Parts: sequence; C-alpha cells; structure tokens
Amino acid sequence: RKGKTPEEVVKRYLQKVRNPPEEDCTICMEALAGPSGYKGPGVGGISRAESVGRLVQCGHQYHLQCLVAMYNNGNKDGSLQCPTCKTIHGVKTGNQPPGKMEYHVIPHSLPGHPDCKTIRIIYNIPPGIQGPEHSNPGKPFTARGFPRHCYLPDSEKGRKVLRLLLVAWDRRLIFSVGTSSTTGESDTVIWNEVHHKTEFGSNLTGHGYPDPGHLDNVLEELKAQGITEEECLP
Ligand code: APR
Ligand code: ZN
Repeated sequence: RKGKTPEEVVKRYLQKVRNPPEEDCTICMEALAGPSGYKGPGVGGISRAESVGRLVQCGHQYHLQCLVAMYNNGNKDGSLQCPTCKTIHGVKTGNQPPGKMEYHVIPHSLPGHPDCKTIRIIYNIPPGIQGPEHSNPGKPFTARGFPRHCYLPDSEKGRKVLRLLLVAWDRRLIFSVGTSSTTGESDTVIWNEVHHKTEFGSNLTGHGYPDPGHLDNVLEELKAQGITEEECLP
C-alpha cells in the first residue's frame, strides 16, 4: 500500500459509471452528473469519463473526487468504507501501539455461563512515543491499567469471539491512542470500538457479567470493523 496514491487506492474499489444517475452524491450533495463539490489538493486532473464510480462490493455511487477527499481525511490504511452502508472495501486497520495479547482458560464459570469455563485475555501495552498514524506524532503516550484482563465464556460462541479478537489485534483495532472518556487524560492508550468485559465475578462497573447480549454485541462491533466469521476460516 505504500507508494499507492489515494486516487489509486480509491480506484481499486471502483467500477466506472458511464451514465451517472440523476441523483446527488451523498458526500458533497451535488449532482452525480455534475462536478464534485470537493476541490481538494491531489485530486485534480480527473477526467469527465471517470468522475463517478460505483463501489464494487455495495454498488453505491459517488464522485471519485469526493471519495478521494474522504479517504484523505481518514487514516489512509488502504481500505475504504462506504459512507452510506459502512461496507469496508479492503482491510481496515487501526493505530493500536505495539504490545502483547495472551489468553488462557481458567477453571471457573462466569455469572450467566454456569456450564463452561472462562477464557482470560491479557493485553499488555507499554507507554511509548506516538507515530505518524497518531494525532500527535513524536509526543509520548501513557498506558494506564495494563495488563488489562478481560473475560469470555469458554463456549463455542466465546471461542469464536476470541478468534475474531485475535484478528482485530493483528489489525491494530483493539486499542487506539487518544483521550480517555473515563479519566479525561489525553495522549493515552484507550479501548477502541470493541467492548470487553474486564470484571470477572461481579458487575460493579457495567463491564462485567452477567450480560446475555454481550457476545452478540461484540460480534456486531467486530463486523463494523470489517471482521467476520468468514475471516477466520482456514
Ligand atoms: N472495562 C471495559 N471497558 C471499559 C471500561 C472498563 N473498566 N471503562 C470504559 N470502558 C469502555 C467504555 O465503555 C468505552 O466504550 O471503553 C470505551 C472507551 O472508554 P475510555 O474510558 O475512553 O477507555 P479507557 O481509558 O481505555 O478505559 C478506562 O478501562 O480497562 C479499564 O484500566 C482501564 O480504568 C481503565 C478504563
Ligand atoms: Zn455502500
């Protein structure tokens, strides 16, 4: 993906549209048949013939120039998410700092899951210096409360969630660097958009068991990051 320009990345996920429909582009709100409302840098020289594209997976249509502007506003990881239906084209990755993810089974049951043992995940991320993918490159970031321990039932569905979390970890999507909504501290390691249960035998924080919907919620959150069951088949 290095060396590919934003325009090349975007075009990889587009089919040409010869006759744009009489609809507006929902990014710039201008007619698809007319020019893009965006005139940002690096998107000049787009000819009339390729000014509108259809995303290959979901079929939604936009001005090419609008998609390039949207891509430039994101973290430029080589993937493109449809702003209408959220379908991810390519592989979405995050900016989780380096660290370790481990897990093992402990011989105790979680509240609400009396018939199985428990998977304990241990995340460990040390403090460090922010890279170009973070909001303040060169500035240190802190890492509070590590190692962080999380729990899943050792059931079929729990093991499925674990497999998908391992993929999420590899794609740097479990944590990010930013401002903690709990402590208000900035430039620190924070949970990303995938909820974890950090309490084992009780539920004092709201991040414990029982919670009958938890595994399905997590599967939905993983899906929103482009991580589904199919990803984990050999
Ligand atoms: N356990 C699990 N998830 C949590 C917790 C917690 N104790 N606290 C917050 N979250 C969830 C929030 O619901 C939110 O969705 O993490 C998301 C981001 O919240 P932040 O407060 O910004 O995240 P962070 O600072 O990383 O977490 C705060 O979580 O695991 C603990 O030790 C950690 O005390 C810290 C707390
Ligand atoms: Zn779409």
